[in-house]
Amino acid sequence: MTGWAGRDVLRITDFSRWDLEGLFGLADELADGGLPRRDLAGRVVATAFFEPSTRTKLSFQAAAVRMGASVLDLPPPAASSQAKGETFADTVRMLDSYADVLVVRHRLEGAARFAAELAGSPVINGGDGSRDHPTQAMVDLYTVRRIFGGVDGLTYGVLGDLRYGRAARSFILGLTRYRPAALRLISPPSLRVRKDVRRELSAAGVDYSEVGDLSEVLPELDVLYVTRIQRERFPDPGEYERLRGSYRVGPDTLEGAKADLAVLHPLPRVGELDPALDRDPRARYFEQAANGVPVRAALLELVVGGRVGH
Ligand code: NCD
Repeated sequence: MTGWAGRDVLRITDFSRWDLEGLFGLADELADGGLPRRDLAGRVVATAFFEPSTRTKLSFQAAAVRMGASVLDLPPPAASSQAKGETFADTVRMLDSYADVLVVRHRLEGAARFAAELAGSPVINGGDGSRDHPTQAMVDLYTVRRIFGGVDGLTYGVLGDLRYGRAARSFILGLTRYRPAALRLISPPSLRVRKDVRRELSAAGVDYSEVGDLSEVLPELDVLYVTRIQRERFPDPGEYERLRGSYRVGPDTLEGAKADLAVLHPLPRVGELDPALDRDPRARYFEQAANGVPVRAALLELVVGGRVGH
């Protein structure tokens, strides 16, 4: 496949449907007994997470190891030279000289793009502030494709903090690369999607609407994507306190939903998704988290597989 080698992965909308389908085809191969492989033997993958992470960092590391690559992980700020005042830019320059690809997460929007400008190696955005999380969107779209055989023609509900949540935002933007039957954006009024997302949805001709309550749209949904309220992004803690607990999905909430509804969540969950739902066959979020490994392994293969280290 052309077009992937050496490429930065900064936003989901940098990729066409055909780029994504190529990625997902390879991910299928890896998911269906194709791992471990040695394609990335001798390659070095650096993970630099300046914000907390469980799934994104560890699934990238698991993916790298299962493809035969080695991992360099930047220690948390207190244990690296950041504690001595080293700048983000200098840290990125160092990692660039030690690794073939950098996976970067940072609380500031645009941090991954800045890193990509500094680094010769490709940079993969592992989440920047409340903006982009392209590889999560890849995992989410892939999960839908695995469950339903495709992404087109389904009705999607995305519930939660659509303003500050980069995972929800990136998933919504990722849907513009496909032909969903409809998209229902469900959130408290102050957590609705930002204007640029509405613009992109309109430009792509996606049939979308914004509603305040899940019950208004639940019966028509094929996919319900739930997200937590992003406490750490709120400029005003009082506003967070007012909104916390304003929605919750559990077995009782799903009465009236389709029998083959898929409930997704990028995790972590902090109360908006009742663990009692885990036993329901419609709960697909742990499968979604597991898909992080084959999708990120496929991504690493496409981005660095053909590259000679420098
Ligand atoms: C998400 C993130 O970090 O944006 N987590 C993840 O990568 N699976 C979602 C979140 O923190 O709510």
